[in-house]
Amino acid sequence: MSDIRKKILSAGGCALIAVGAVLCTLCYELQRRYDGHASPLMLPPAGRFFHPEKPGMRFAVFGDFRIQTEPFEAVVRAVRSSGADFALCVGDMARKREVRHFCWLAERMKRAAGDLKIFCTPGNNDRESRDPRENGLRAYKGSFGQPGYWFAWGDSLFVSLDTSAERLAAGEVERLEEVLKAERSHFSRLVVFTHVPPVDLRGDGRGECLPDEDVRRLEPLLREYRVSLIVAGHQHAEARWEFAGAPLLVVPTSGQKGEGKDPRYGYWMVEFLPDGGMAAECRRVDSGDGTDTVEYILSSRLNQTGWLFRAGVCLLLIGGGMLFFRGKICGTGKSA
Ligand SMILES: [Fe+2]
Repeated sequence: MSDIRKKILSAGGCALIAVGAVLCTLCYELQRRYDGHASPLMLPPAGRFFHPEKPGMRFAVFGDFRIQTEPFEAVVRAVRSSGADFALCVGDMARKREVRHFCWLAERMKRAAGDLKIFCTPGNNDRESRDPRENGLRAYKGSFGQPGYWFAWGDSLFVSLDTSAERLAAGEVERLEEVLKAERSHFSRLVVFTHVPPVDLRGDGRGECLPDEDVRRLEPLLREYRVSLIVAGHQHAEARWEFAGAPLLVVPTSGQKGEGKDPRYGYWMVEFLPDGGMAAECRRVDSGDGTDTVEYILSSRLNQTGWLFRAGVCLLLIGGGMLFFRGKICGTGKSA
């Protein structure tokens, strides 16, 4: 065999082994970073009581950012500097319904939030299937825990309502009633936070709200237990309406394309006053609409399939085979 062929086998084999090793190392690193072991969980504070002695509070409500990290981080920065006690995130955070994507999402949210507690509820973009009877929240639950829960802050009860299937999840009204029956009388205020608002009063015929049969079940229950405030997202436009005798606040987006009179990104800042009053202000944030593309590709595109690892192993085997073959023919040439 000519020297040129031997050189090609040597150089080609070494190059394939090097590329294969790089792909396998990249795969290992992506698995290590985004497989969930290193990612923080954003579990809900189910059943916990925060600051039971505190009579007033300030909290922010935002949502609908769908991994647009630039506007999301601008909103969270504004919330943190406003001195909010905590924040409610009303869903539509993810772009891909994959466990590793949610691990990255939770890590980015933790990184941006710092000391600020963010209590989440899932949106329709956070679930794999719209069928409310299916486990469409497998990836969400891996990082964010259960979708329906309650917690208490000061003298107020907060209940998350799972409307991620664009209707009430199976058994959700029964769960809500159980919580209200056991806990409502211990608190002076009741806040329900959810993704899909119960009504859409924009009058443009889009009807981005819960179906009528869900509203018919929900409204009397919330009236009976004297709901103080309902907050939601999904419509991508600021709104302040009324439902079941209480204010209903719909958030502007924190990353998805905004609609309505003012499509800028923003959030609601709600203040519960010690005298029982409430003040709510919709605050706007100017920001670009980008995301961290490199991290998104590494965590959520490259990392979603086994092709990286399989390609790396194939290249290692082919490269090793070429070097072995070259060694064989060199040995044969010498002995001849
Ligand atoms: Fe939505």
